[in-house]
Amino acid sequence: MITLIKGFHDILPDDSPRWEFIVRTAAETLRRFGFREMTPPIMERTELFERGIGELTDIVEKEMYTFEDRNGESLTLRPEATAGMLRAVAEHSLLRKEPVLKVFTIGPMFRRERPSKGRFRQFFQVDAEVVGDDSPFTDAEVIAAAHAIMTNIGATGLMMEINSVGCPECRARYRVVLQDFLRAYLTELCDDCRRRYERNPLRALDCKVARCEEIARDAPLILDHLDESCRSHFQAVQDALRMLGIPYRIEPRMVRGLDYYTRTAFEIVHEELGRSKAVGGGGRYDSLLKELGGPDVGGIGFAIGLERLSMGLSDDDPRFTRSIDVYVAALGDRAQPEAFRILDLLRKAGIAADTRYSTKSLKAHLKVADRFRATRVVMLGDNELERNEATIRDMNTKEQFTVRIENIVAFLQGAES
Ligand code: HAM
Repeated sequence: MITLIKGFHDILPDDSPRWEFIVRTAAETLRRFGFREMTPPIMERTELFERGIGELTDIVEKEMYTFEDRNGESLTLRPEATAGMLRAVAEHSLLRKEPVLKVFTIGPMFRRERPSKGRFRQFFQVDAEVVGDDSPFTDAEVIAAAHAIMTNIGATGLMMEINSVGCPECRARYRVVLQDFLRAYLTELCDDCRRRYERNPLRALDCKVARCEEIARDAPLILDHLDESCRSHFQAVQDALRMLGIPYRIEPRMVRGLDYYTRTAFEIVHEELGRSKAVGGGGRYDSLLKELGGPDVGGIGFAIGLERLSMGLSDDDPRFTRSIDVYVAALGDRAQPEAFRILDLLRKAGIAADTRYSTKSLKAHLKVADRFRATRVVMLGDNELERNEATIRDMNTKEQFTVRIENIVAFLQGAES
C-alpha cells in the first residue's frame, strides 16, 4: 500500500463537516470585517520567501519544501501566505485602486517541521491582511477579527498575547543591548542561536531549545527600548482592545518566527498547547511591501492554523455530524426505478436525498437512513406502488404518512417549511 507522506494528513469525509464549518465561519467573520477573498498560488519563487520571511529564520533555513524546476528555477511550496499575498498586491498594483486593501485567503501551507500533535508538514491557514494603513485602530481591528473567528467557532481556552517588536530603529538599538546580554552566554546557546548572534540575535528569544529559553528569560526586553512613537502606538492598540473588551496579555518576549514584523505582534495561544503550538499569530509589517517591490506602505495581518483550531472542538457536536434530508427506501425490484426517479425529483427540488440501491430489506434501509441521519424516509413497497402511494416516516417523531407518489416532493417541501 502506498501511504501518506509523513506530516501530511487527509481530511476524511467524517472530518469534512467540522472542517467546512471552520472554513465557512472564518470566511463569514472576515467578510463582516470588510475583508475580501483572494487566492494566490501555493508555489512561488524561492526568493520571495527568502526576502519576505528572512534568510535567518527557521522557516527559510530548515523548513521549506524547495526544489529545482525543470528549467533550473528554484521554486518553493509556500510556508505561509503573507509573502505571496503581498507579492500579488505589488504585482497587480492593487493599492492604486484601493489604497487600503483588506484581503484573506484560506489554503494549505507547507513546512518541513518535526511532526507531532498539532504540528504538520502540510497544514491549512486562514490568513488575513490589511495593507496600506498605519492606524493603531487597524491593529486592534485585525486582532479583533482573529478573536471573532475564535469566538464564532466556539473555541475555548485561548488567550491573546501581544507585544511590540518596535520599528527598525528601535530594534537596531535593542539589538546592541541584547547582544551585550547574550555575549556572556555565547558558549551555552544552541548552534543556531550562536550562528545568528551577529546578524539576527532576536531569534534567540524565539528559540525552543531549553537552555536558550532559560537564558532568554533574563534577557532585556524590547518593550523597555521602544522609542516614543512605537510606545504610543502600542499604548493606542491596547486602549482600542480594551474599548472592544478583548482580553489580552502582554508577552514581552514574543518576537514571532518571521522577520518581517514591526511594532505590533500577537499570538493566540492555547492554555494547554502553549506558545510553541500557537493557534494563530500575526503582526504589523511596515517595510515588507516595499521590500517586495511595492509602494512604501505598512500593513498588518494574521494567520490561524485550522488543524489546531479544529483540535479544540468536540467530536460530538451535532453541527459536525453527517446529515441528509431524505432517504428513499426501495423495497422490491419494481420500486427501484421509482426510487431512482423520485430521488432525481427531490434533488432537483433542492432536497438532499440519497439511497443505497443494493440494500433490500426495510430493516437494512432504516439502518442506513439512521447512519445518514436522514430526517425523513420515503418507503416504496411494491403493493403501495400499485396504489400509487408511498409511506413517509418522520425519523424524529416516528410518525408515518401515506402520500400519493406525485405529491411526495410537495409533501416533503411543505413539511420542510
Ligand atoms: P505563523 O505564526 O508562522 O504566522 O503561523 C500561523 C499559524 O499557523 C500558527 O499559529 C499555527 O496555528 C499554524 N501553523 C504554523 N505551522 C504549523 C504546523 N507546522 N502545523 C500546523 N499548524 C501550523 C504566519 O504564518 C504569518 N504569515 C501570519 C501573518 C499573516 N502575519 C502577518 N500576516
